[in-house]
Amino acid sequence: MREIRVELGERSYRIAIESGILADIGKSLQKFGFTSKASLVSNPTVFGLYGACVTESIKAEGFEVSVIIVPDGEEYKNLSSVEKIYGAMLTSALDRKSVLIALGGGVIGDMAGFAASTYMRGIDFVQVPTTLLAQVDSSVGGKTGVNHPMGKNMIGTFWQPRLVWIDIDTLKSLPRRELLSGLAEVIKYGVIWDEGFFRLLEENRDKVLSLDKDILSRVVQLSCEIKAKVVSEDERESGLRAILNYGHTLGHAIETATGYKRYLHGEAVAIGMYAEARLSRELGLLDAGQLARIKALIEAFDLPAAIPEEVDPRSLLSSMKLDKKTVEGDITFILPEEIGKVRIHKGLSSKEIEKVFGNKD
Ligand code: NAD
Ligand code: GLY
Repeated sequence: MREIRVELGERSYRIAIESGILADIGKSLQKFGFTSKASLVSNPTVFGLYGACVTESIKAEGFEVSVIIVPDGEEYKNLSSVEKIYGAMLTSALDRKSVLIALGGGVIGDMAGFAASTYMRGIDFVQVPTTLLAQVDSSVGGKTGVNHPMGKNMIGTFWQPRLVWIDIDTLKSLPRRELLSGLAEVIKYGVIWDEGFFRLLEENRDKVLSLDKDILSRVVQLSCEIKAKVVSEDERESGLRAILNYGHTLGHAIETATGYKRYLHGEAVAIGMYAEARLSRELGLLDAGQLARIKALIEAFDLPAAIPEEVDPRSLLSSMKLDKKTVEGDITFILPEEIGKVRIHKGLSSKEIEKVFGNKD
């Protein structure tokens, strides 16, 4: 089994990655000293596929497990769903030493984490991520939250899981488009941190897409290692952690401009990564060859790179000004200087930004 530790003092935790470990989750919960009541949060899609395996495994270790199902979809990532989760936790009499288990993608993980962080002022939770995006990104690092009608992920907490349990075999049932969306975050790690990882993706495209076990578990491991290092250094995003937002400043604006309907999160991030790399090139920070490699890898994984024609650069600009990282109107960009190295860049004028984002390709 591949194991990574997220070092955060007494809140440190383990990420376990392997193929076929879903049925072992029960045993892995034993050593934490949780009381016998546990709740599992999932949605009908994921629970239908993996719910029985996970609940049986937990029950076999003597836990009494209640199941909380919330509807599938980003539109249900809100406070009403969280209220439903609280109600079910109270009905099952979960106490302060009980554990909440999130089985699903980022939507379930973020919501369950938020519920765990606020129930009785905070109880333990465990992430069992089943999408690639959740396995390489959202299950690690402790950002939890829900959407508000006025903005995505606007309500949330930092609350680290006690354990992240990743069975890469769950990706076999994931729709291809969701897999590709997760790969955008994987490409991100190569650009922000590790040229060797970027090259591994360039050289193993077909194996990754055919879910070759060795390469896939390595890809998930390398991604989690990078995220773990960044989070260990800057849990609350007062500095370094902002680099994980490469592609996201523009990506979030693209999602907003297209009403969250046209693109999956990773697809919008792919557009954002190429656009922000072009911005870096325009500022003379990145050479043309490196820019071309970034575009080629995005496209090799069938992800979009160009900003859609119909999107007005001014609407992108105003939406980036509402970004959580924007302070007093100054938009923060993460700009690649070479593959494997980025800088946090502020102080660009609206004109400089609009010029690059107005040029769609
Ligand atoms: P998701 O949770 O909506 O899952 C995508 C779809 O795949 C859903 O329909 C889900 O039911 C289905 N699914 C999940 N696992 C499956 C499987 N193994 N087989 C078949 N279908 C499966 O989307 P996501 O991309 O995993 O997560 C997106 C969310 O993550 C967003 O809300 C975003 O804000 C959040 N996020 C959080 C962080 C963080 O650090 N907390 C980071 C990135 C993204
Ligand atoms: N996904 C960005 C972060 O966790 O900081």
